[in-house]
Amino acid sequence: MSHIQIPPGLTELLQGYTVEVLRQRPPDLVDFAVDYFTRLREARSRASTPPAAPPSGSQDFDPGAGLVADAVADSESEDEEELDVPIPGRFDRRVSVCAETYNPDEEEEDTDPREQLSQVLDAMFERTVKVDEHVIDQGDDGDNFYVIERGTYDILVTKDNQTRSVGQYDNHGSFGELALMYNTPRAATIVATSEGSLWGLDRVTFRRIIVKNNAKKRKMFESFIESVPLLKSLEVSERMKIVDVIGEKVYKDGERIITQGEKADSFYIIESGEVSILIKSKTKVNKDGENQEVEIARCHKGQYFGELALVTNKPRAASAYAVGDVKCLVMDVQAFERLLGPCMDIMKRNISHYEEQLVKMFGSSMDLIDPGQ
Ligand code: CMP
Ligand code: CMP
Repeated sequence: MSHIQIPPGLTELLQGYTVEVLRQRPPDLVDFAVDYFTRLREARSRASTPPAAPPSGSQDFDPGAGLVADAVADSESEDEEELDVPIPGRFDRRVSVCAETYNPDEEEEDTDPREQLSQVLDAMFERTVKVDEHVIDQGDDGDNFYVIERGTYDILVTKDNQTRSVGQYDNHGSFGELALMYNTPRAATIVATSEGSLWGLDRVTFRRIIVKNNAKKRKMFESFIESVPLLKSLEVSERMKIVDVIGEKVYKDGERIITQGEKADSFYIIESGEVSILIKSKTKVNKDGENQEVEIARCHKGQYFGELALVTNKPRAASAYAVGDVKCLVMDVQAFERLLGPCMDIMKRNISHYEEQLVKMFGSSMDLIDPGQ
């Protein structure tokens, strides 16, 4: 056996990233990695300038394995009773699907959070899949949660003896959390439509970190989510499910959040700051020969954007930029479709005003690039 030297710090670095991914389940693993490691570098350079200032956004971001380990340690002190509250609605069919349900009280005392971290990493396993392979079958007991490394997958739901495709995963995202979080049978069938590779995490380890983290997230975001006008019509239990699936992303002043014309995979709610929506002009061209962008709207705290492309299944109709520092709650398209059905009427009503809004601003001979192109 050759001896490969693992550089000091590499394991902790990758552990930190992996656990953040599992905790926040960001919609795009590559974007998340860029954000994560950029902030880690920023936090490190700030820390080396005495007196050490806390990294900006440090409340919602845990750069480095040390802080991630702290977060896991924090979650150990969460109110355990929140974890096993059955959620009414679609999931109140609470069934015993697995013998080894996680009971936090029975867990042996783990004094070192790093030990728990390595347990998570040890528990993760790679699963390669072939075309047409069923990764999950609707109605089965939940065993694992999966993070997509690569491959495309169909999401099929059977209702009233009819099976229909309700969406796809395209090389990123994760699935299989519902049965584990809510102790219910699998809610959909997941079929590979290409060869692929997945990272699996077993039920017990998943519950140990994710379910506890969700209890923490509920505490953090509950009051904000309740204040979002779009979500007012939802039941409390439905709003809690939204908290369970959302991730948080921070953007710096001027950073682009959405790009006009691109394929859409996420929906955004502004948690703090302001977002400017711009559309490209057909006739105004900048010195590089590119079509200039004109502002068509501003969105503020509690408002949402990025729904249009998900509702119409078209490319992004406009671009969105952070004005000052911005924090957004981000939901992937699958969760958007699964959880925001009851808000669809409100969204469609608002969408129907977009065109009027543009006509009011630019007159009927609109000078704007058709976003479909
Ligand atoms: P789970 O019920 O454990 O197994 C099937 C998974 O499919 C489910 O968790 C979700 O992660 C995922 N899924 C994606 N879209 C849907 C949907 N519309 N309804 C139910 N499950 C979905
Ligand atoms: P989407 O097309 O997914 O991405 C750009 C977003 O800008 C769009 O969704 C809307 O949420 C938002 N937006 C705000 N005002 C308008 C408008 N007048 N026309 C199109 N999009 C708008």
